[in-house]
Amino acid sequence: MKVYEKLLLENKAWAKEKLQLDPSYFNKLAHSQSPEFLWIGCSDSRVPANEITNTQPGEIFVHRNIANMVIHTDVNLLSVLEYAVTHLKVKHIIVCGHYGCGGVKAAMGNHDFKQVLNMWLRHIKDVFHLHRKELNSIEDENKKFDRLVELNVQEQVLHLAKTSIIQRAWKHEQSPQIHGWVYGLNDGIIKPVCELNPDSDIEDLYKYDDI
Ligand code: CO
Repeated sequence: MKVYEKLLLENKAWAKEKLQLDPSYFNKLAHSQSPEFLWIGCSDSRVPANEITNTQPGEIFVHRNIANMVIHTDVNLLSVLEYAVTHLKVKHIIVCGHYGCGGVKAAMGNHDFKQVLNMWLRHIKDVFHLHRKELNSIEDENKKFDRLVELNVQEQVLHLAKTSIIQRAWKHEQSPQIHGWVYGLNDGIIKPVCELNPDSDIEDLYKYDDI
């Protein structure tokens, strides 16, 4: 059996199991989705949104990329955000990073990963640069790495608040709440690191007043 064939086989077994537990399982799910959460996480195979939060299909709308970045010119991310906030009306957005993130580690080094990876990692280098005082004061390399993972999540949460999509929803819906979390590969535990609410203040320059 080829490796990918195992996935198809497992899929059949999974679907059968679901139907045994609830014969209308797929009928109900196929009808519509109304997830309360948008998850912006890392593509890392060890950080699957549903498994680590013990949630089911239909509960979390998911976007994942290398190092859980929110880049204001990323049409993919912005489409997901717009759909989740304006149409699905999610109540919470979670930016979830993880300790040991390969993308963050790569951005801390000087290796040339070639375009387009250099382009992507550059955004994380900019986070380091923004917080270089604090980061350079940490001598232990592992602790510095962990802290950059946390600060990167914090910056991505702020990036969300700088979008007109979020500001419009905050003004007219008093929603969503935005959470910055970091998952530990070593213990499976998620640590909350920051939170923004519809009444949170953001830097004047990024505010839209006629929204
Ligand atoms: Co990662």
